[in-house]
Amino acid sequence: MRKNRFYITTPIYYVNDVPHIGHAYTTIAADILARYNRLKGRNVFFLTGTDEHGQKVDKAARERGRTPQEHADIMVENFRALWRKLNISNDAFIRTTDPGHKKIVREVLQRLFDKGEIVRRAYSGWYCTPDERFWTEKEITGGRCPECRRPVERIEEENYFFLMSKYQGRLIRYIEDNPSYILPETRRNEVLGFLKNNELGDLCISRPRSRLSWGVPLPFDEAFVAYVWFDALLNYYSATRYLSPAAGNGRDWWPAEHHLVGKDILTTHAVYWSTMLMALEWELPGNIFAHGWWTVNGEKMSKSLGNVVDPAATADKYGVDAFRYFLFREVPFGLDGDFSEEALAKRINTDLANDLGNLLSRTLSMIGKYRNGTIPAPVQDRDREGLEGRIRAWFPGESGTGLAAAIDGYLGRMQFHQALTHLWKFTGQINEYIAATVPWKEKDDDTLSNILYTLAESLRLLAVYLWPFMPGTADDIWAQIGIERKIGDLKLQEAGVWGRLKAGTRIRKGGALFPRIDLKTPRGGEVPSGDAAPAPPGKSGVKGAGKDNLITIHDFAKVQIKIGRVLRAERIEGSEKLIRLRVDTGEGRQIVAGIARSYTPEELVGKKIAVVTNLKPAKLMGVESQGMLLAASDSSGELSILIPDRDIKEGSVVK
Ligand code: ME8
Repeated sequence: MRKNRFYITTPIYYVNDVPHIGHAYTTIAADILARYNRLKGRNVFFLTGTDEHGQKVDKAARERGRTPQEHADIMVENFRALWRKLNISNDAFIRTTDPGHKKIVREVLQRLFDKGEIVRRAYSGWYCTPDERFWTEKEITGGRCPECRRPVERIEEENYFFLMSKYQGRLIRYIEDNPSYILPETRRNEVLGFLKNNELGDLCISRPRSRLSWGVPLPFDEAFVAYVWFDALLNYYSATRYLSPAAGNGRDWWPAEHHLVGKDILTTHAVYWSTMLMALEWELPGNIFAHGWWTVNGEKMSKSLGNVVDPAATADKYGVDAFRYFLFREVPFGLDGDFSEEALAKRINTDLANDLGNLLSRTLSMIGKYRNGTIPAPVQDRDREGLEGRIRAWFPGESGTGLAAAIDGYLGRMQFHQALTHLWKFTGQINEYIAATVPWKEKDDDTLSNILYTLAESLRLLAVYLWPFMPGTADDIWAQIGIERKIGDLKLQEAGVWGRLKAGTRIRKGGALFPRIDLKTPRGGEVPSGDAAPAPPGKSGVKGAGKDNLITIHDFAKVQIKIGRVLRAERIEGSEKLIRLRVDTGEGRQIVAGIARSYTPEELVGKKIAVVTNLKPAKLMGVESQGMLLAASDSSGELSILIPDRDIKEGSVVK
C-alpha cells in the first residue's frame, strides 16, 4: 500500500439512461472511502464519470432523435446533479468523449499494436447487440446470449484482436499470489474457477465503422472504432494523465488502490483490464472489489417492472444521509441486498432518530438547562462510578487504538456495515451512560459538569467517525455543539483525540437530526412476534376472547410470567433481529428474542426482565427458545423491554 496516496474509482456509468440505486451505491461507497482517507491525511484522488461511447448509447440517442454526443451532453448532467445531491466528493469527473481521454486511448492502441499485442484477423461469431459482445458457438444456448437471454446474430468480419489468451497463466498466478487483488473472496474464487476451467480467448477490440461509428477510431485503421469496453477501462489510467491533482513527490497516481464495481462487471475488470495492463507492462491496481446487487421489495429491479429506485427522489423524500446510511448499514458490502422504503423508514426511526438524534437532543437540552447553554469544563476526579472511564476507553489517546483502530480495520477491508455497527455500539454505550448517571437527578455540580462534558465530547467524536458516511449530519452535530470548524477541514489526528472540545463553547441547538417517519401500515409481519414482543396494536385480539376482546382472570392466570436476570446475550448469526439470551428465572433457560434492532447484546447482560415461562418451546433459526421476554413496541417498531421498577429477586412471579 502506498502510504500517502489513495486513488479510488467507480465504474463510469453509461449515459443511455438515468441513474439508479446501483449507480448511487458504488459511488457512495467510494465517497466514504475517499472521505475517510482524506480524514486520515492521505492525498486522495477519487474518480467517477460516464461511459459515453458504444452501441447502447448510440441506440438510446437514435431513439430520442439526438446525435450520440447531444444525448451524452444531456444525460451526463443527471449524474453530475445526483452526485451533488448525494454529497459525493469526487475530485474529477471523466467523460469518455473528453478529447484528453480519446487521445490516450489512441496512444495506448498504437502502443499495443506496435508491440504486436493487437492483430487483425478474420472472425466469425455470435454477437449480442445489446451487450455488445461476441460469444462462441459453445457459449450460446438456443440462439440466445448466455448473459441476457436475448437472440444473438451470426457476424463475419475482419477485426482487431487483443491477444489476451497468452496472459491466462500469468493472470491466474497473479490472482493466486495476491489474495486481496479480487474481493470478496467468493468472487475471487469464481474468477479463478472460470480462468482455470476455460480456455481464455483473444478479445475483439474493434468494431467496423460501417456497423458502429460512435467510438474512438483506431489510430492504425480508421475504418474501425475501439470496442467500448477497451475505451472505457482505460479511463482509470487516462484520468491520471489529464484530470488528477498533483500526486505529490513527483509520483504518478497510477495504479489505483481500489476499483469498486458491481458483480456483473467483474469479469471485464478482472480479466480484460488486468491483461490489458499486463500487455502494457503497467502496474495492476491494488484491488478490484465487486459488490452485490439490490433487489427492490424482493424483486429484481427492472424498467419493465417499473420498480427502479430513483436515488434522487429517495434522498429528497427521506434525506440524503438517511439514504447513505441505509445502503451501508443494511447489507454487508459484497452481498446482495433488498431495498424497501419500509426498511429504510425503520432504520431512520430506530438507529437515526432514536439512538443518534435523541442522544444529541437530550444532551444539548441538558447543557441548555443545567449550564445555560455552555459546555462545562470536565472535572476528571469526579468519575465516581468509573462510568466515564468506560466511555473514554474507546479513545485511548493514540491514533491506531480503540475506536480509531476498529474503524480503520473495517474500512480497510471495506466492511462498511461492521464499521457502522461498531459506531452504533458506541452510541448505545453513550445512551447507557445517560441512563446510568441520571444527570437530571445529579446534585453534585462537579459530577454533573463532568457528565455533560463527557456526553458532548462523545458526540463530537462520534460525528468525526460518522462524517465519511453521513457528512451533512456529522457537520450538523458539530454545529449544534457549537464548534465553528468543519470536520472535513481537519485530520483524524487532531479531531479524533479525546478532550479537544473546548469548555466554554456555546451550543447552538437546532432541529431534530432525523424527523421520525410515520409508518402508517401495520407491520405485524416484521415486528418480532411470539419470540419477543406482543403483537402490535391493532393486530392483537386474543383467541377465544369475546367480541369485546376481554379475558377473564382465569385466562390470564394461565400465563406464567417471572422475573429473570440476563446472564449472557449474543446475536444469532445470519439474523438481523434475533438475540440468544441465557436467563436465570429461578432456573436457567435459553430465550431467543427478536430485539437486536433495538438492543445490543452487551446492554442486555445483567438486566432484570419479565419472561413468560410456561410457553411451549419453539425453534427460531434452529435455536430453541424456552419462553418469551416481554417488550413493548411503538408505532415505529422500536422496542422497549419491560423491567421491574425495584430490584427484585430472579424467579419472582408477576401477577
Ligand atoms: O456497466 N444493484 O455501466 P452501467 C447494484 N459502463 N448495482 C447495480 C444494479 C443493482 N440492481 N444494477 C446495476 C457499465 N448496478 C459500464 C462500466 S467501467 C469501466 C464501465 C451496477 O451504467 C452495476 O453492477 O451499466 C455497475 O457497476 C453499474 O451499476 C452500472 O453501470
